[in-house]
Amino acid sequence: TLATTASLVSTAYAEGRGVAAFNAINLETVEAIAAGAETANRPVIVQISENAVRYHGGLAPLAQAAIAVASNAAMPISLHLDHATDERLVAIAVDLGFSSVMYDASQLSYEENLARTAAVVRRCHDRGAHVEAELGEVGGKNGVHAPGVRTDPEEAAAFVAGTGVDALAVAVGSSHKMTTRDAALDEALIAQLRRTVPVPLVLHGSSGVSDAGLRSAITAGMTKINVATQLNKAFTAAVRETLGADPALVDQRRYLGPGRDAMATEAARLLTLITT
Ligand code: G3H
Ligand code: ZN
Repeated sequence: TLATTASLVSTAYAEGRGVAAFNAINLETVEAIAAGAETANRPVIVQISENAVRYHGGLAPLAQAAIAVASNAAMPISLHLDHATDERLVAIAVDLGFSSVMYDASQLSYEENLARTAAVVRRCHDRGAHVEAELGEVGGKNGVHAPGVRTDPEEAAAFVAGTGVDALAVAVGSSHKMTTRDAALDEALIAQLRRTVPVPLVLHGSSGVSDAGLRSAITAGMTKINVATQLNKAFTAAVRETLGADPALVDQRRYLGPGRDAMATEAARLLTLITT
């Protein structure tokens, strides 16, 4: 069933659990996430990033497919726009029925991030959509802030009060697009942010964090756990293996299918780990 991100996040937040947000980039990855949710018997947030929108040249076709998959699923699935820097794209996502967006002005100065985010929040709240923002850039996105930057708890509290955001992505040691799972998270900082910031915290770049690290981060206070690369790894490894085993293979379904299955298996495993 098509759920709202607000309902999934607020349930997880109230119960001190994690909720997984997995990135989809095409129909097969949407299907893999839905299948993983079904296997794990857990709800999930499907997120589509501005980069994925750029890849397709628009949001509507993939978004409408994702909404159809979510609506037909047995488990609650919500749709979320991930890492939007373009305010027009935020409006398009809300028009299409996304219940939440991430507006990412983390590369701007604190003041500009605050002012722009506050304006986006006002417009989204008028339409019933929830907004996630980012403060203290998470690395791995060709960032402008110093690498290794951390979110300051007092600044984060002021940012939430000044913008009205519903969830906050924080920099606590993770970095985007890691293919090794050895990032060291600052759990003391997570705990401090959890005490200081009155909205659910979002962990970006979760692929670089080990299973045990993800559990500790949730226990320390993270709620929404964003994973993309780890699922891409599973999909691509299966495609590579399938193609390598049969150089004569041409039917795309015969390698995309194994990719989708492998991603569904990893999605189910992560969902069970995150929402416990
Ligand atoms: O917003 C998406 C996530 O932060 C994914 O990061 O590809 O490093 O797992 P990842
Ligand atoms: Zn991210």
